[in-house]
Amino acid sequence: MSNNLLANKKGIIFGALDEKSIAWKIAERCVAEGAQITLTNAPVALRFGKIKELGEKLNATVIPADVTSQEDLDNLFTQSMDILGGKVDFVLHSIGMSLNVRKKRTYTNIKYDWMQKTFDISAISFHRMMQTMLKMDAINDWGSILALTYIAAQRTFPDYSEMAESKALLESFARSFGYHFGTLKKVRVNTVSQSPTMTTAGSGVKGFDEFFGYADKMSPLGNASADTCADYCVTLFSDYTKMVTMQNLYHDGGFSKMGMNPAVLDL
Ligand SMILES: NC(=O)c1ccc[n+]([C@@H]2O[C@H](COP(=O)([O-])OP(=O)(O)OC[C@H]3O[C@@H](n4cnc5c(N)ncnc54)[C@H](O)[C@@H]3O)[C@@H](O)[C@H]2O)c1
Repeated sequence: MSNNLLANKKGIIFGALDEKSIAWKIAERCVAEGAQITLTNAPVALRFGKIKELGEKLNATVIPADVTSQEDLDNLFTQSMDILGGKVDFVLHSIGMSLNVRKKRTYTNIKYDWMQKTFDISAISFHRMMQTMLKMDAINDWGSILALTYIAAQRTFPDYSEMAESKALLESFARSFGYHFGTLKKVRVNTVSQSPTMTTAGSGVKGFDEFFGYADKMSPLGNASADTCADYCVTLFSDYTKMVTMQNLYHDGGFSKMGMNPAVLDL
């Protein structure tokens, strides 16, 4: 299915690691809708992931960039504008990594230098990315910038640990930078709060399989898949959502509005 919603649009997709990645599905969908894109991920992900395969499939250049490196980001936007033949119209931030979770440190025994690195990779990178784009004049007026987030920014999900604060920070950057980008360039900035999804980052969270099942039962529509997330993101990159900005948009089958669902209790 294609409606050519992104015809003549250029974009950059951060964070496709393998075919399970949400960014992988979004990249495929953007190209199917007529966009021309570049792909980017951390140099280590280029060595161990499958992003090169995706690049070949979508005819998209893959540019390595560690989001904590200013030099890498400068190079990414310079090269992308070169390859795509001008400024971009949309950007997806689909990046998350917690050092304390990965190294199995509990929330009440956090290592703070790891926490700072977690924030740098998972949230401050969003500000850095936008600041770089603004300074380099790398995005067209009426462009659209999105980051993926999770409801642990608003509610407590104990095993999500310091990623909860990362997502709260990320969503706050969307609002604050959304003001500046909107005023200066008519560029909109939003976050999409996605259901639990079976990916490398997702399944790194303790008890993820059980939680996935719980959220699926709790949500009237069930968990939203990565494919449906891609459909939603395409609309947010398209000209049909030009006046939506500074929002945290739930894409979760209704989970965020539920109090109790008898399905969870097997009633
Ligand atoms: N999977 C879920 O349940 C779920 C739910 C809601 C939101 N999200 C969010 O969706 C986004 C994408 O995650 P995913 O679930 O597709 O998993 P994923 O593991 O496929 O993607 C995470 C990406 O972050 C990249 N990354 C990590 N460190 C980096 C760095 N220093 N520089 C550049 N890139 C770096 C990884 O290489 C990887 O491609 C994340 O923001 C995640 O928090 C995921």
